[in-house]
Order: sequence, then C-alpha cells, then structure tokens
Amino acid sequence: MDALELLHKRVSAPVLMEPAPTAEQLDTMLLAAQRAPDHGELKPWRFILIDGDARHALGELYVKAGKAANATIDDEKIAKFKKMPLRAPMILVAIAVTQDHPKVPEVEQVITAGCATQAVIQAAYAMGFGAMWRTGEMAFDPTVKAGLGLQAHEQIVGFIYLGSTKRFRSVEAVPTREMLTVWGA
Ligand SMILES: Cc1cc2nc3c(=O)[nH]c(=O)nc-3n(C[C@H](O)[C@H](O)[C@H](O)COP(=O)(O)O)c2cc1C
Repeated sequence: MDALELLHKRVSAPVLMEPAPTAEQLDTMLLAAQRAPDHGELKPWRFILIDGDARHALGELYVKAGKAANATIDDEKIAKFKKMPLRAPMILVAIAVTQDHPKVPEVEQVITAGCATQAVIQAAYAMGFGAMWRTGEMAFDPTVKAGLGLQAHEQIVGFIYLGSTKRFRSVEAVPTREMLTVWGA
C-alpha cells in the first residue's frame, strides 16, 4: 500500500474476527512501533499480547476489577466485562513505560508510546488487518494494571483490538485549512 494512501485513508474497524495476525505478521506490525519519534531514544513503550483463551482470563480480571470498584455490581455488568475482550481474536495492551528524565518530561514519553501504538495500527491497516484502539475504565483501573503486571512507572495507553474485518468504511476528509491558522500574516 502506498504510504500516503495509508495515512489518508486508515480507519478503525470495530467488528473484528478470525483470522488474527500470525506471529510473523505481528512482528511486522511491532517493527513499525520502533520508528515512533522518541526524544532521548528512551523507547518508552511495550506491548502485552493477549489472544486465545487468555482473553477469557482478561474478562475475569475485568470482573475482579469491577467488583473491587463496586461490591454491588450486577450480573449484566459482569457478563459485559466477560465479553469485552472477545471483541477481537487478538488484543495488544499498549503500555507507556515512563522514567524520570532531566530533559524528557513524562508527557513526551506518553506521547511517544501513543505514536508507537498508532504505528502498529497503521501497519495493521497496511497489511489488511482491522484494528481498534480502546481505553475505557479498565485502562485506568489499578486491579487491571496489577493483574497485567504493570509497574508503578507504567500506564496503559490503550487496548488495541486486532483481527480481520469484512470491510473498512471510507471517510470524507474535511478541508485541511480548517485545522490550520497562519500566524503573523
Ligand atoms: C487514546 C484513545 C482511546 C480511545 N478509546 C476508545 C474507546 O474506549 N472506545 C471507542 O469506541 N473508541 C475509542 N477511541 C477511538 C477509536 O479508536 C477510533 O479512533 C474512533 O472510533 C474513530 O474512528 P477512526 O479511527 O476510524 O477515525 C480511542 C482513541 C484513542 C486515541
């Protein structure tokens, strides 16, 4: 795929199914993350792969988190938590791994992790796979973070749902001048 076509047309795919990317295809996507702009070359990102039956374990972790946050959680909500990770055959948890640095503030490191995440999503699109970046309450939940093994200096920037899609929607671009002002003219 032409690079500009990718950048101009990429869309999310909320409905995802098998087949998931193979291990080799996933590696190709992760290679793209390495080209994220990265002040100080800190590489402040990592990814956790959750696929197959591990998705059910993630659903159980969501239930545990939901119960810890609200003891009176109802059955409907429990069922919803269990189903959430089944929205795609593969999930990558994108994590910002920040550190105290004299020149690179935390916000820059989190932005870099976001760029790395978007690079993976763009690579997926270029390879014909669908992807959807989601966060929601579980991305910020301490029980979920602990269950996934996050350290104190780490935060979830997104759950990247990956899989195959029947079609990508097409989008109409807004005039680019709506996002641009010229200063000093
Ligand atoms: C940090 C971040 C978190 C997001 N979280 C959610 C989410 O929890 N649920 C959701 O429906 N979309 C979420 N989105 C937006 C979707 O990934 C997607 O970009 C949006 O639906 C627009 O679709 P498009 O990417 O095709 O333009 C999030 C995007 C970002 C960058």
